[in-house]
Amino acid sequence: MTAGETAGTRRFRSQDWFDNPDHIDMTALYLERFMNYGTTPEELRSGKPIIGIAQSGSDLSPCNRVHVDLARRVRDGIRDAGGIPIEFPTHPMFENCKRPTAALDRNLAYLGLVEILYGYPIDAVVLTTGCDKTTPAALMAAATVDIPAIVLSGGPMLDGWHEGRLAGSGMVIWQARRKLAKGEIDEEGFLQEAMDSAPSLGHCNTMGTASTMNAMAEALGMSLTGCAAIPAPYRARGQMAYRTGRRIVEMAHEDLRPSRILTRAAFLNAVRVNSAIGGSTNAPPHLIAMARHAGVELTIEDFQTHGHAVPLLANVQPAGAYLGERFHRAGGVPAVMWELLQAELLDGSCLTVAGNTLAEALAGRESPDREVITPFALPVKEMAGFTVLSGNLFDSAILKTSVISPDFLARYLADPDRPGLFEGRAVVFDGSEDYHARINDPDLAIDERCILVVRGAGPLGWPGSAEVVNMQPPDALLRRGITSLPTIGDGRQSGTSDSPSIVNAAPESAAGGGLAWLRTGDIIRIDLNARRCDMLVADEELARRRAEGTPPVPASATPWQALYRQTTGQLADGACLEQALDFQRIARTLPRHNH
Ligand code: FES
Ligand code: MG
Repeated sequence: MTAGETAGTRRFRSQDWFDNPDHIDMTALYLERFMNYGTTPEELRSGKPIIGIAQSGSDLSPCNRVHVDLARRVRDGIRDAGGIPIEFPTHPMFENCKRPTAALDRNLAYLGLVEILYGYPIDAVVLTTGCDKTTPAALMAAATVDIPAIVLSGGPMLDGWHEGRLAGSGMVIWQARRKLAKGEIDEEGFLQEAMDSAPSLGHCNTMGTASTMNAMAEALGMSLTGCAAIPAPYRARGQMAYRTGRRIVEMAHEDLRPSRILTRAAFLNAVRVNSAIGGSTNAPPHLIAMARHAGVELTIEDFQTHGHAVPLLANVQPAGAYLGERFHRAGGVPAVMWELLQAELLDGSCLTVAGNTLAEALAGRESPDREVITPFALPVKEMAGFTVLSGNLFDSAILKTSVISPDFLARYLADPDRPGLFEGRAVVFDGSEDYHARINDPDLAIDERCILVVRGAGPLGWPGSAEVVNMQPPDALLRRGITSLPTIGDGRQSGTSDSPSIVNAAPESAAGGGLAWLRTGDIIRIDLNARRCDMLVADEELARRRAEGTPPVPASATPWQALYRQTTGQLADGACLEQALDFQRIARTLPRHNH
């Protein structure tokens, strides 16, 4: 389609600003200041779509910083297809750096983007994504506003190498921590391993939350096929940026909105793809949040029903062996989806941003590298999705079964009399400061029969919900070769963690969930077959403890922390800004003029 063919085929919402015969005074006001960087009134009044580029990269968002350069190719594509690009910044979210947690900012970035997309003359938008929460925040906003939108991920870093071995970003930190505790490396060695894992621009090169969420965007049909896995520095990344820019102009003319793509079938596809790639435990809250903003029903139980039995096909860290470059060369997300489609585990009739069906988009995408993306019949692991648990400690929590090591399985879950069942003594920490202060305290007498519990780490408690549940054992146990204990918490865990933790417990302790009433020394029973997790404490005793009130949490330190606490739901419900759910497809109406 050329610019000449597409221009003028429909009236865009931006024309209510720039070409409004009923309000010529307002049109004059809206137009004039765009001139001061050289844009002409002829362009803005040409009837071509105005395409927003939601720029998530900045010096504060290093994982997404590639987009600062990629935007040039997005603009080229938009111009070549007959659109007018307007780039604007989004709220930075840098997972590893934002304190007390980047999760606090997801709903803030969402809110900001909704206001921009609704209140400015934007007809369609390119959502630039990368680091963990940048993808869900952008898609949540696109779902709420419902103007044509397409995801352009920035791509992972090149593979990291340390002393001749693959070193995955994020994951290397958890591994090096253990080595440091065992005295195998010093602090300098620790820093060197971390730096070696991050050799280029791009987001985490492991199948952490960033790679997972960009894969989810692709699985949902919200980015061009093959977009998610292209490493940031590859030339294909710039080419993908150009094609994405071209395609969003066509989408504006076709009025192809997220509401046509983000269906329940699309979300169930994403749930299955997440299992097959060994995706992050952060995916459920983010997918549930996106679905709820899109007006689609998706619950935590859907991850059990539709995701649990799916095998692990992507041999990528932390569940597997390789990193992002090999995954891309093996065919990336489309090759995994191709396997699931052959196995009739995907709905191939779902629409993608390209305007074709998923089945059409995946044609010919079989992997050329079976070591990295296995055939469905010969997976890395069977039944690799999450196990969704409930009990008197929480209504729901999840366990990433794909990272349970043979060693852990043998120690905790392979009792011949009661397979899948483990009982241990709880050691309870209130927040990660408490954990760090006391984990090596000999008085706690932590041994391999203990279960480490952290609370006060959920959306209300932290606030924002922090990735602190993947707690490592005391140094004394590490030195004996025990690298992980069972852990439970109302916080989350890093997508790059290989810890078999029970995470995202909801309701959280600060909301009066069962974890609030647990005490160090109580016995916890984890029964994976029954999908139960309970404290073996008598009801009368629990009633007595309930009268004591929930454990204290830190006061809000910023205005947004206080507002966040007033508005957030629990992780099982996506930790959404609950009041925002009343607002759906808001671009059906135009905003009032401002004078
Ligand atoms: Fe940003 Fe991992 S810290 S992608
Ligand atoms: Mg993370």
